[in-house]
Amino acid sequence: MSDRIALVLGGTGMLAGCASALLADGWKVVLPSRRPRFGLAARAAVVAAGHRPTAAEPRAREIAADWARPAELAERVRTTLDHPADLLVAWVHSTYRESVLKAVAPLLAPHAPVVEVHDSGAAHRVHGLPEPILDGHPTQQVVLGHVKHGSGRRWLSHRETSDGVLAAVHRALEGKPPSTHHVGDVDVW
Ligand SMILES: NC(=O)c1ccc[n+]([C@@H]2O[C@H](COP(=O)([O-])OP(=O)(O)OC[C@H]3O[C@@H](n4cnc5c(N)ncnc54)[C@H](OP(=O)(O)O)[C@@H]3O)[C@@H](O)[C@H]2O)c1
Repeated sequence: MSDRIALVLGGTGMLAGCASALLADGWKVVLPSRRPRFGLAARAAVVAAGHRPTAAEPRAREIAADWARPAELAERVRTTLDHPADLLVAWVHSTYRESVLKAVAPLLAPHAPVVEVHDSGAAHRVHGLPEPILDGHPTQQVVLGHVKHGSGRRWLSHRETSDGVLAAVHRALEGKPPSTHHVGDVDVW
C-alpha cells in the first residue's frame, strides 16, 4: 500500500506539532510555506510535547511557495506527489483561503477529508464562520479561541492549537460528519 499523503497549508508555525504527529503516525507530509523551516519548528514542537524527535521526520517535504500565487503553489506541490493527497489541513489567512484551496483541490483524492482552521477574528464574529470551500470533500472546521488567564485571557499555546486541530484530523479520518469545533473559548457571533 502506498504512503498516505497529508498536505498541510500553514503547517510550519503553530501547527508544527500537528504535522509532527502526522509524521509520527506514518504519513508523508507536504508543507508549502514562504520560508521552509519545518525541521526547526517540528523539533521545537516535539520537545514542547515531551517527546524525542522521530525518525519519521525526514518524510516531511517542505516546499517554498506563497499563498499569493496559488497556481504556482499548487504546481510546486503537484510535482512532489506520486499520488493524490489523502488529507488536507488548511490554516490559511482568509484573504487567500478560497483561491488557495481551489488551486490545490485537483491534487486531492476523491472525497479526501479537509480540516479548515480559522481564527475567531472580528470578521467571523460579525459574519459567522464561512462555509467550507471544497464541495465533495467532507470538511471539519476548527475555530481557535482563547484561554482564561488570571483576570484576562491569552491565546492558545502552539501545543493546545496543534492538539485541537489534531483532534479534528482524527474525526475527519474516522469519517465523522462535517462539523465545527472550538478550541479554547470562542466569542459567540
Ligand atoms: N486564537 C489563537 O489562539 C491564535 C490565532 C492566531 C494566531 N495566534 C498566535 O499568533 C502567532 C502567529 O500566528 P500566525 O498567524 O503567524 O500563525 P503561524 O501558524 O505561527 O504561522 C503561519 C503559517 O502559515 C504560513 N504562511 C503565512 N503566510 C503565508 C503565505 N503568504 N504563503 C504561504 N504560507 C504562509 C507560515 O509559513 P511562512 O511564514 O514560512 O510562509 C506558517 O506556516 C501564533 O504563533 C499564535 O501564537 C493565536
